[in-house]
Amino acid sequence: MLKRGYLIVFEGIDGTGKSTQCSLLSKFLSEKKIPNIVLAEPTKGIWGMKIRRVLSEGREGISPKEELSWFVNDRKEDISKNIMPALLDNKVVIMDRYYFSTAAYQGALGLNPEDIRTENENFAPIPDRVLIFLTSPDVCLERIESSRDQKSAFEKIEYLQNVETIFKSFVGPNISFINSIGSVSEVHKKVLTEVKDIFNFVLKK
Ligand code: TYD
Repeated sequence: MLKRGYLIVFEGIDGTGKSTQCSLLSKFLSEKKIPNIVLAEPTKGIWGMKIRRVLSEGREGISPKEELSWFVNDRKEDISKNIMPALLDNKVVIMDRYYFSTAAYQGALGLNPEDIRTENENFAPIPDRVLIFLTSPDVCLERIESSRDQKSAFEKIEYLQNVETIFKSFVGPNISFINSIGSVSEVHKKVLTEVKDIFNFVLKK
């Protein structure tokens, strides 16, 4: 169906509704018979599990650089095992987080976001589209707290504000920002508008 694979990345702070929107895009493409796969980082691999332990137990004893290296190792594994095979199979790869998350979250720990982005772009396939979901960090925290029991170490408000500031600073021809305030279906329409030229969709009003 497609002449090549496409990489579409969803980014943003926790609680912006990205994961829901990844599933909706996948469902939409499947209905159009466009082969696609949703992948998420951190993964469920060895590095991803190590990361998840830090997410639930806290960062004590781990330096930002070490944490960065875990995300990079996790991504390298994801690229070779999942992302590249799917792209070579001409699928649309929908990513729930990718290296912009690393630049923003580990950048907010005091590392240089641009250096992190450059380091990742040396080994990671560059996305066709990066959709960065924005909403106020207070709204995100409210959504997170009402939907989960355990507050993760990554979900502190000040930290998230810094992460959001870094997300907003990214520029590039493949990057667009989506305001995720609004209903799920309204946001879904915004997502389709951003990717429609790839697939020549005719969108219903
Ligand atoms: P998240 O997408 O929220 O996973 P889940 O919905 O399964 O809990 O990601 C978990 C956390 O990992 C999130 O707070 C952001 C953080 N993260 C980083 O700090 N750096 C990264 O490179 C990535 C991919 C995620």
